Amino acid sequence: MQENEVLKAIRDRISIFRFQEDAISDEQLDTILEAGRWAPSYANSQPWTFIVVRDESKRRALGELVQRIALARRGNVGITGPGIGGAPAVIAIAVDPWRDSKHFVETGAIAAQNMALVANSLGLATFWAGVYNSEGSRRSIEGKIKKLLGIPKEMRVIALLPVGIAAYNPHHKTETRREDLAEFVRYETFADEEPSEA
Ligand SMILES: Cc1cc2nc3c(=O)[nH]c(=O)nc-3n(C[C@H](O)[C@H](O)[C@H](O)COP(=O)(O)O)c2cc1C
Repeated sequence: MQENEVLKAIRDRISIFRFQEDAISDEQLDTILEAGRWAPSYANSQPWTFIVVRDESKRRALGELVQRIALARRGNVGITGPGIGGAPAVIAIAVDPWRDSKHFVETGAIAAQNMALVANSLGLATFWAGVYNSEGSRRSIEGKIKKLLGIPKEMRVIALLPVGIAAYNPHHKTETRREDLAEFVRYETFADEEPSEA
């Protein structure tokens, strides 16, 4: 394997749950959004809208909506506080299934990951709050986020991406955070061994 800058950026990104209050600059935000813009999409449909939420009361409300997610992480890293609602900006990644009925979920996910990677390369932390609800119900967390942010009902929300300066050091060792490649990779066929010719 060859080490390179992109691989390093991919490995370095990590989900951070608590943020410092310091604002992020417009330039940083624009750089992150530009990374989302350059995501690939089915037939280049670019079906996304990125909603940037800086307003404190809206951020806190979003944080409360994903508190169940938050609680799971809190236990992991032993932290308290407002969680993702405390990030100076939260980006909601919404997609329009009318512009891409086949692959809108993947497309939104790629845009979110692009943004998370560039945020990380700027020294900023993110947390992937996966809010997409396969049933699309109005009572789901996704439905409530749509209502809060005025997102049209036919659109879908894939993730919330809070962005800010990490408020703690996660002390994760990158090598131990993923299974070995050999666990995931097969060559030519799913089976471990090549079928015999007989
Ligand atoms: C599609 C998706 C949904 C996620 N949903 C949750 C969630 O419900 N709760 C949570 O604590 N983290 C959630 N996360 C964050 C993952 O837990 C995290 O990415 C994973 O543990 C790997 O850690 P890392 O992001 O620090 O590398 C989600 C991530 C993705 C990509």
